[in-house]
Amino acid sequence: MTVTTGKPMPATVALHFGAQAVAKNRLYFSSLGMDLCDGNGFPRPEFFKVYQSLMDGGSGFGFLGNASVDAEARYNGRGLRLTSPAHAEALRPLFEAARQRNFPLGVQLQHYGPQALPTAQGEILTPSGIASPAILKAFPEARAVAMTHTQILRCIDQFAAAALHARQAGAELIQIQASNGYLVSSFLSPRTNRREDEWGGSPLKRARLLLAIVDGIRRATGDRVPVTVRLGIDDGLGEEGQQAVLLGDVVVALEAAGVAAITCSTGVSETFPFFFKNKDKALAMSREGCRYLKGFVRIPMGFTGSVSGVAQANEIIGCGDADFIGFGRAMLADNRFIAKELAGRDAEVTRCRGDAFCFRDKKDPMAERVYCCVNPDYRRPEKLQLHYEESLK
Ligand SMILES: Cc1cc2nc3c(=O)[nH]c(=O)nc-3n(C[C@H](O)[C@H](O)[C@H](O)COP(=O)(O)O)c2cc1C
Repeated sequence: MTVTTGKPMPATVALHFGAQAVAKNRLYFSSLGMDLCDGNGFPRPEFFKVYQSLMDGGSGFGFLGNASVDAEARYNGRGLRLTSPAHAEALRPLFEAARQRNFPLGVQLQHYGPQALPTAQGEILTPSGIASPAILKAFPEARAVAMTHTQILRCIDQFAAAALHARQAGAELIQIQASNGYLVSSFLSPRTNRREDEWGGSPLKRARLLLAIVDGIRRATGDRVPVTVRLGIDDGLGEEGQQAVLLGDVVVALEAAGVAAITCSTGVSETFPFFFKNKDKALAMSREGCRYLKGFVRIPMGFTGSVSGVAQANEIIGCGDADFIGFGRAMLADNRFIAKELAGRDAEVTRCRGDAFCFRDKKDPMAERVYCCVNPDYRRPEKLQLHYEESLK
C-alpha cells in the first residue's frame, strides 16, 4: 500500500477543523493517558518522549490524554492536570514541538466524575448520586453526591479555565471528554442522570452541561482554538444506557454551538472488558453509530476503537461510515505504525496483542505507569507481565 501514485486514499486527504487547524491526513492518535506525571499533575521527561514519538509516527493529528480540569478529581496519582498557569508552562515545549512539525496537537480536558477517586472529603461528584461500581467497591466509605447547581457551575468554569491554560500553552485543538462514563458523559446518559431540574430530562437537557462547557471554552479562548468533543455514543448497557439513537439532537446542538469535530467512543468502566474482548462487535457498533449521527451534521465525525490498521481505516472512511479514524493501543505498540503502513511496510509493524493490559496498568497497584507488552521503549516489567498473564488462565 503506498500513497505515491493514483487517487489519494480516503485517509490521506487533509482534514480541516473549522478554519483554524488542518491535519495532513485523517488518522489520529487517540487520547492516551500514559500516567507519566508527578503527584501534582506535571509531566515527567518520559511524557515528552512518548508524545514526540507519537507525533512523528505518521498520523495527521492527535490528543494528549486526560488533563484533569479539577485538581481534586483524580483517576490515579499519575495523571496530567491543567489547573494552573504553571501546568500550561510545563506543556509549552510540547506544543512548540508540534507547531514546528505542523502537527495539530490537541489536549483532552477531563473531569473524572463518577469514576474519580474519592476527594479528601470522601466525595465523588455525579449527576444523581450514582458512582462507578468499581470505585464504590474499592472505596466502600465513599459518598457519591448529586452535584448542586453551584458545583455544576464551578465545573463549567474549571473547563473554561483549563481551556485558557491550554491556549496559553499553545494547544491547537481542545477535546472535551464526554464519553466513557466520566462526568460529562454521565450527565448525557439516561442511566446515570436522573435529575429533574434543568440539568436532566430529555437528551438535549442532559447535554446542557456539555453545551455550557463548549460555550464557556469558546468564550475563555476568544474562539481561537477549535473545540472538539469525544462523545460516548454507546455504553454497551442496552436500552437503559446511552445509545446513538438518543444523540441526534445533541450532535445538531453541538454543531450549532461551534464544535469543530466529534470523535465517537464506546464503553464505560463496567463494559470496557466487553468492548476490548469483542472487537468485531465493538467495531460494528462504532461504525453504525458514527454513520447514523453523521447524517445529522456537516462537521467531521470519526471514531476510535478496534480499528486494525490503515487499510481498514481507508475502507471505513471510503464508505462514509466516518470522516476520520483514531488508534489507541496500536499506536502504543508501535508509535510509527501509521507511517510504516502508509509506506507499504506493514511487515515491519510491531503489533498490539490486544489484551488491554496497558489499560489495566492504570489501576494496578504494581504498575508505575502505562506500559506495553511489545513496545521495547516501555515494555512492562516481567514480573507484572507474568502476573497479568497468570490472571487470564
Ligand atoms: C492505556 C490507555 C490509556 C487511555 N487513556 C485515555 C484517555 O486519557 N482519554 C480517553 O478519552 N481515552 C483513553 N483511552 C482510550 C483510547 O483513546 C481508545 O479509545 C481505546 O483504546 C480504543 O481504541 P483502540 O481499540 O484503537 O485501542 C486509553 C486507552 C488505553 C489503552
